[in-house]
Amino acid sequence: MTEAEAAARLQALVVEIARHDRLYHDEDAPEVSDGEYDALMRELADLEAAFPKLARAESPSTTVGSTPTSPLAKVAHARPMLSLDNAFGDDEVADFVARVRRFLKLSDDEAVALTAEPKIDGLSCSLRYEDGRLVRALTRGDGTTGEDVTPNVRTIADVPQVIAGSPAVFEVRGEIYMEKAAFAALNARLVAEADDSAKVRQYANPRNSAAGSLRQKDAGVTATRALRFFAHGWGETSALPADTQHVMMQTLAAWGFPVSDLIPCCATLDTVLGHYVKIGRLRADLPFDIDGVVYKVDRLDWQARLGFAGRAPRWAIAHKFPAEQVETTLEAIDIQVGRTGKLTPVGRLKGVTVGGVVVQNVTLHNADEIGRLNVWPGDRVVIQRAGDVIPQVVENLSRDEARGNWRFPDHCPECGSEAVAEAGEVDIRCTGGLICPAQAVERLKHFVSRGALDIDRLGEKSIAEFFGLGWLHGPADIFRLHRHRDVLLTRQGWKDRSVDTLLASIEARRTPDPARLLFGLGIRHVGSVTARDLVKAFGSVPRVAEVAQHPDALSELSSVEGIGPVVAQALVDFLHEEHNRAAWDDLLREVSPLAFVSTVRASAVTGKTIVFTGSLETMSRDEAKAQAEALGARTAGSVSAMTDLVVAGPGAGSKLKKAAELAIEVIDEAGWAEIVANADG
Ligand code: IVH
Repeated sequence: MTEAEAAARLQALVVEIARHDRLYHDEDAPEVSDGEYDALMRELADLEAAFPKLARAESPSTTVGSTPTSPLAKVAHARPMLSLDNAFGDDEVADFVARVRRFLKLSDDEAVALTAEPKIDGLSCSLRYEDGRLVRALTRGDGTTGEDVTPNVRTIADVPQVIAGSPAVFEVRGEIYMEKAAFAALNARLVAEADDSAKVRQYANPRNSAAGSLRQKDAGVTATRALRFFAHGWGETSALPADTQHVMMQTLAAWGFPVSDLIPCCATLDTVLGHYVKIGRLRADLPFDIDGVVYKVDRLDWQARLGFAGRAPRWAIAHKFPAEQVETTLEAIDIQVGRTGKLTPVGRLKGVTVGGVVVQNVTLHNADEIGRLNVWPGDRVVIQRAGDVIPQVVENLSRDEARGNWRFPDHCPECGSEAVAEAGEVDIRCTGGLICPAQAVERLKHFVSRGALDIDRLGEKSIAEFFGLGWLHGPADIFRLHRHRDVLLTRQGWKDRSVDTLLASIEARRTPDPARLLFGLGIRHVGSVTARDLVKAFGSVPRVAEVAQHPDALSELSSVEGIGPVVAQALVDFLHEEHNRAAWDDLLREVSPLAFVSTVRASAVTGKTIVFTGSLETMSRDEAKAQAEALGARTAGSVSAMTDLVVAGPGAGSKLKKAAELAIEVIDEAGWAEIVANADG
């Protein structure tokens, strides 16, 4: 057997085994006997042994059975897959260009050339080529870890299996999408094939149908769906074949990737905005959905200097098209109680399709918003939805000031406790705290949710069920659910297999990511980014808790980049409460969070605190700070005993004096450039 024949047979086996796994695990409808299944697995293992180069880390020979909780294997991205900031008008695009100029400290005669290309509404995917061969395809997932959809992507004709002339490692990133006509045809086919057309699940829009078609455990199903691909960037590469964005895109096209034929490189803001208008006019006639135009700084050396802020690059922006607006009736206003006790009014709408999906609920945020809109049940309202943005009410067509405002409840609808606003706050909160079941359930739901512990098989419904049975009080109880296995088996909807997958998916989280664990606790003001900043600064979850209980906690915590006094106080308050400490200790007896893995480049300043003062000549203050962060240093605005290094340019005054008083090391901009140049990686 030649290597090519072996590769083809392996591929077929992977697809076939994946299909049997789905039939067996998810549908309880196996088509082959255990013996026949074992024979397929043996053939796969023999082939992998004979052709070790073809064996993949995530082959069914190594993964089946070991990850029964997730339908698709999760794999870490070599480089994170980020998102884009949005601009909603010409002004915001002009601001973007001004920010780029400031960051790079450009002189007036240096132009910032931008590429402009359509923002296709699909799902992003990273295709990894090694020695010119497609070896792995991952969805974006949470940006750090994606789902392995390699066999599925291999069925997409737009994606080359082999490319010629690429560097040894090259990850192509782009969008998988479905054309509008193919989406309509797919829904029609699903209805035609269904036994009971009233029950058939149709896709809401082309984007969902692309996602649903790609994320199939059975790649054979993906093969029947008309998926397309267009490339818009790259991830890890062993070399860069060009030094501008537009030549990179031409290179990808030469390798055989579809790239948009609407990518000009524009020298001025006016040309860019003219292009936006042009694409906007073409929008309705394009065969696929687009929701804006993406601009990218053309020079790659500038992209590298600009880097990333949070989850988005500083060198790109999405100029969105205006949101679609539709009129409907607000049928009722319900109150939901969140995990921090906040009462949120939710508008129940007469369902309408807007921006491609049916909208039935809309958040009304708080009492102020209800007052601003002057909405009452029965009113006609205009709602809008832009892309992923949650729907909102933009206008109340029945507004009538004379009738006053709808009355916000003054008691919690769930536990009956008083509901009040804290001084200076608009939000109204249930004061029930621990006795309010709604808050407890919401906290648990948050703990297992996708951004937190991400426990696959433990959904909101099960949390509510187990809470109702008295099995769950705090998050630690989730890890003791196995004690209720026998009773659970007697309950409706639970079978041996579903209980096993549930318990396995819980066990898989006994060594959680520390930042996700901290975020999962649902401490007020501690979002996922803040949680990561804290763990990054202090190294581990127990250490964060230790610092927060120290007498100097407030100043220690606030000295961390990204952590302000509000977050610091919230953390201190949280750990001050006896029952929170008890829940925290209980949890840490059940789980062992992983150590924080740093992605920073090691350097002379890693772990140190730096103050920049005076003016810098070759870069802006923001760029210098970004460099410091990338080297694992903290930057501070003022010099204190905690400062390790001061970088001073011309015009430095009082900070320089203070540094001399405290005998802190001072260097100039050239000295700083040397530290950056000498860092690892
Ligand atoms: S560039 C560092 N270009 O939009 C991120 N993204 O809202 C670079 N998208 O996650 C992304 N068309 O999935 C880029 N021409 C285009 C795009 C595009 C669609 C998607 C992409 C991204 C999302 C952000």
